[in-house]
Amino acid sequence: MAVTTCIFDAYGTLFDVASAARQAAEEPDDAILKDHWQKVANDWRLKQLQYTWLRAITQEHTDFWTVTQNGLDWALEASGLHGDQRLRTRLLQLYWELSAYPEVPDMLHELKAAGLKTAILSNGAPDMLKGAVQSAGIGPLLDDCLSVEEVGVFKPDARVYQMVLDRFDCAADEVLFVSSNGWDAAGASGFGFVTAWVNRANEPVDHLPHRPHHILRDLTKIPTFCAAERPVT
Ligand code: LAC
Repeated sequence: MAVTTCIFDAYGTLFDVASAARQAAEEPDDAILKDHWQKVANDWRLKQLQYTWLRAITQEHTDFWTVTQNGLDWALEASGLHGDQRLRTRLLQLYWELSAYPEVPDMLHELKAAGLKTAILSNGAPDMLKGAVQSAGIGPLLDDCLSVEEVGVFKPDARVYQMVLDRFDCAADEVLFVSSNGWDAAGASGFGFVTAWVNRANEPVDHLPHRPHHILRDLTKIPTFCAAERPVT
């Protein structure tokens, strides 16, 4: 079936999660981060995601803002920076205004011009997503911004992917799901979406029961890809 609906993961896919630590490291007050920002950014992201999976497995859901803070606290401690409350506050503040990847606005414009539905489907809490979308100025290019808070469990639980079908009243194979998280693309493939894994870091494919259908280096080819999947009218 032709793709009618293009759904994006948010953190790491549309928004550059490393940009908070990278930007703080450039600010004079947080120069202490200069030699550590990449480790802090990597640890922060890894722990944040691990905590989402563990909370889903143990059925102890909390919102993404809480696991984002828990992950940062672990990352700062791992780099010996946990005594710096000002740094912690600044990093958390920057997480609400992450940079979008540079190709994002043009890519979304092209999808809308081609008549596709576009939306975010994210672990992010609604307020966090609102902040990131506003800060990137992409609100008018999205039909919706779906948060897992509606179902109270994190990805890759199938109830999360089901939200797309309920919202857009479409079949799973009409949906192109785009994520930079290999495990998220795999989960969405298992659910029945057509999937594109954005593999910016040239990593190996995850060894999971399902694989992404397509692998891209960035988001620029998404509109061409959707056009190829659409019938000529
Ligand atoms: C999200 C995380 C997984 O936006 O990146 O859902």
